[in-house]
Amino acid sequence: MTRQSTEIREVIRIENLNKTYKFKGKEVVALKDVTLTVNKGDIFGIVGVSGAGKSTLARCINLLEKPTSGKITVNGVDLSALSEKNLNLQRRKIAMIFQNFNLFNQRTVFRNVAFPLEIAGADRQTIDSRVKALLGYVGLGDKADSYPSQLSGGQKQRVAIARALANNPDVLLCDEATSALDSLTAYSILQLLKDINCKLGVTIVFITHEIGAVKNFCNKVAVLDDAGIAECGSVEKVFDSPASPVTRKILHYGGVK
Ligand SMILES: Nc1ncnc2c1ncn2[C@@H]1O[C@H](COP(=O)(O)OP(=O)(O)OP(=O)(O)O)[C@@H](O)[C@H]1O
Ligand SMILES: [Mg+2]
Repeated sequence: MTRQSTEIREVIRIENLNKTYKFKGKEVVALKDVTLTVNKGDIFGIVGVSGAGKSTLARCINLLEKPTSGKITVNGVDLSALSEKNLNLQRRKIAMIFQNFNLFNQRTVFRNVAFPLEIAGADRQTIDSRVKALLGYVGLGDKADSYPSQLSGGQKQRVAIARALANNPDVLLCDEATSALDSLTAYSILQLLKDINCKLGVTIVFITHEIGAVKNFCNKVAVLDDAGIAECGSVEKVFDSPASPVTRKILHYGGVK
């Protein structure tokens, strides 16, 4: 394999990432020397207990949070080297969904999904056809005129997913995207995310505290512990022969092993 084709396969490269918050005069180390690579087509799980640094890592990947030090490269572009305008353009390719959906409650489902297209300056006809196609894709073709308060949790997450896909992202960051849902609904959302990965070629970073969700869904996994990477590798390897005590503990208490 040539060096060039290796580089093309890398979608996210995180090198020696550190993030320290200042809180009430004290320093909180949220990420400590984190290095990892996510390749195109991966469904990359990031697991760890509460406070391990998972959300901070997700927010650093799209530079919603500025790293204290280290480098983040997405599709070969060093995000920290970009102007604010170019960073915003680049961010369109890194979409994100959340545990609490983060929908605009005053906007209809249609106008939630239309929002990123409006920001990108799309014309009305493009917005209309794209939003209808996206809502059909996530199975909510009949909910265009509903408001978020009229939807179930699973339906709200489908709206958030449709909105996240609006600008054809390369990467979808999912921060506890299924954690607020019952297990059957969570499963249906995972199926949808799998389809997005396989059919639309979107690379997925799947952050969760539930190790069980990673087993059948992800191909790679990193275990975050106390702000650092305790272990990283293929799901088979990490589940079959966990090398770190914290992974073994998470597997045990997660009911997996
Ligand atoms: N804005 C902030 N200011 C100060 N400290 C913060 C801030 N955001 C996060 N932290 C701290 O950084 C650490 C990592 O937090 P983070 O939210 O990334 O953890 P997490 O793994 O996502 O946890 P959870 O599973 O509960 O969502 C914690 O100690 C947290 O208190
Ligand atoms: Mg979190």
